[in-house]
Amino acid sequence: MTATRTQVAIIGGGPAGLLLSHLLHREGIDSIVLERQSRAHVLARIRAGVLEAGTIALLRAVGLGARMDREGLPHDGVVIAWEGRPRFVIDTKNFTGKAMMAYGQTAITEDLYAARDAAGGQIVDQADDVRLHELTAARPHVTYRKNGQTHRVDCDYVAGCDGYHGVSRQSIPATVLKVFERGYPFGWLGIMSETPPFPDICYCYHSRGFALASMRSPMLSRYYIQCDLDTTIEQWPDERFWREFKARCSQDMAAAIVTGPSIEKSIAPLRSFVAEPMRYGRLFLAGDAAHIVPPTGAKGLNLAVSDVYYLARALVENYRTGHSRALDGYSDMALRRVWGAERLSWWLTMLLHRFPDESPFEQRMRENQFDYLHASEHAQASLAEQYVGLPFED
Ligand code: APR
Ligand code: PHB
Repeated sequence: MTATRTQVAIIGGGPAGLLLSHLLHREGIDSIVLERQSRAHVLARIRAGVLEAGTIALLRAVGLGARMDREGLPHDGVVIAWEGRPRFVIDTKNFTGKAMMAYGQTAITEDLYAARDAAGGQIVDQADDVRLHELTAARPHVTYRKNGQTHRVDCDYVAGCDGYHGVSRQSIPATVLKVFERGYPFGWLGIMSETPPFPDICYCYHSRGFALASMRSPMLSRYYIQCDLDTTIEQWPDERFWREFKARCSQDMAAAIVTGPSIEKSIAPLRSFVAEPMRYGRLFLAGDAAHIVPPTGAKGLNLAVSDVYYLARALVENYRTGHSRALDGYSDMALRRVWGAERLSWWLTMLLHRFPDESPFEQRMRENQFDYLHASEHAQASLAEQYVGLPFED
């Protein structure tokens, strides 16, 4: 067995783990990232791509903004298209003074890998069978297997950034962890196509189900439709996808959609999930390892960013001063923001989707929510404030 030492062992090389490693490095704190998959696999994953104002500001402040500012598509509002009603814009920039950006998680992950490589950061990919040991002792350690050999990393802290299916959360005793969960009776079928996007990020409610037009760049579009949980990609050739998408928008919107062959197609279930607390001894959870939001509102990546911002700040304070106040407060502070985003994503999901077993009463409630949002500047301002992202706490 080989043995190395680092200050923070980071499990998972997605956006949370890579950004944490980058933030710590800037403050002179050493880390090793252990990622189960190959780098090519991580970089091929397509996820959501709308950045909150706070995420944009943080990425700029830590030297990760150049490509985002060049290639990202700033956006100042969202459009809601309700069946049988005129489309309307919620002018988030006007209500909040803050702009958002469409910039894909895939591109952010590429930028993070480039930054870690340039700084000589240690990222071990294809690390199998990662196990966490002695998390409540003063010196925890992590083991993993690579190329048939077992390796050991001794550290001060472990950051569990290994997503929903990772080992970190599972290393916390069930008696300690409280889990809050809700499933939804549908999924999202998403496609990427090399076509000019519809000009707005547009959320459509339709009796056939939800649809969303989004974008990645001037020649890359992202579209989603609500689908049944038991459907498969094979049942959705491009032609059927486009036909269904257009059936869920108004005629003028359908006419403006430029269709083309898909370059990626995937189905994701929708889930709300929070595990509390986000700490166990010297293990700190961040990102999808601790919480999942349904994609409506695109909060998942932004939450991963705010978690690691708080966590890096707390670790820095701890290494500088020897005090553990910020580390002790990490879980509560991160969870306050998490629950805010959980509620927004849940609310948008309820508002915009067609639920199979819904009663006529519930349908009327949804229509009335929409009417209120449409008519009330206060309701729009409230949605705008949450959509651009609540501020980070000091
Ligand atoms: N050991 C090592 N790495 C692991 C393990 C494990 N046992 N299990 C999972 N991983 C890796 C995954 O391969 C993945 O690369 O951890 C990484 C977790 O990355 P993400 O799932 O992307 O999660 P996170 O970094 O928290 O990113 C936040 O925002 O838009 C949302 O869900 C979306 O992934 C996104 C998330
Ligand atoms: C996306 O572009 O992938 C996206 C945009 C907005 C959402 C969810 C996903 O609410």
